[in-house]
Amino acid sequence: MSDTPALNIPTFYRFSQPIVGMIWAQTNGGVIGADGGMPWHLPEDMAHFKRVTTGHPVVMGRRTWESFPEKYRPLPDRTNIVVTRQEGWSATPEASGAVVLDSLEEALVEAQFSPGGDEVWVIGGGQVYAQAQEHCNVAVITVINSDVSGDTQAPGLGHEWSFRGASPLEGWHTSKNGTEYRITLWAKGDTEFQAE
Ligand SMILES: NC(=O)c1ccc[n+]([C@@H]2O[C@H](COP(=O)([O-])OP(=O)(O)OC[C@H]3O[C@@H](n4cnc5c(N)ncnc54)[C@H](OP(=O)(O)O)[C@@H]3O)[C@@H](O)[C@H]2O)c1
Repeated sequence: MSDTPALNIPTFYRFSQPIVGMIWAQTNGGVIGADGGMPWHLPEDMAHFKRVTTGHPVVMGRRTWESFPEKYRPLPDRTNIVVTRQEGWSATPEASGAVVLDSLEEALVEAQFSPGGDEVWVIGGGQVYAQAQEHCNVAVITVINSDVSGDTQAPGLGHEWSFRGASPLEGWHTSKNGTEYRITLWAKGDTEFQAE
């Protein structure tokens, strides 16, 4: 565990060292998905996600890619790397705009050599987060103050992760649609970063 005190982080920030991060939004109970989508609408978190990931490669599972409406993929200004074990999927129309690989480890290496690869963002979903956490050193988790149910869970972070800060540090932001949320920052071991 690190002795670094938890910070009241700004909603938007950058890191001062190369990172491989995971970013997701979850309910209090760790739900991240339902029926192939997300069981909430939180425009502020979509803006946060865009701000954090734009200019950097994003790595995702095939099911998360397919959860984006066609007109929103690939996510612009980001190399979109999609993992699948299906041979031939890369030649299908669904794969248009994605860099397709059949292993997560290869995807993470490819990402580090892509534009903006000093920050790599793993963007889901549940299967991919569970496998990626051993390769990542940062996790940016939006917690939504909701107990809605779903079918996909966030991975539990192991003991090597420590809480580094939140926006707000206490309590919640309130979305313009009334949903309460806070953005939390976790890092592994002694990973250092500086919020700007
Ligand atoms: N709340 C959030 O922040 C957030 C973020 C992202 C996603 N989600 C939600 O999460 C759900 C999707 O998550 P999910 O767990 O069902 O699926 P997922 O992790 O997005 O994708 C799983 C698929 O990725 C491929 N895959 C996984 N591991 C692989 C590996 N090691 N090598 C090669 N391919 C690999 C496989 O594709 P093939 O089957 O093609 O082989 C697998 O079926 C949706 O509901 C989505 O909306 C939520």
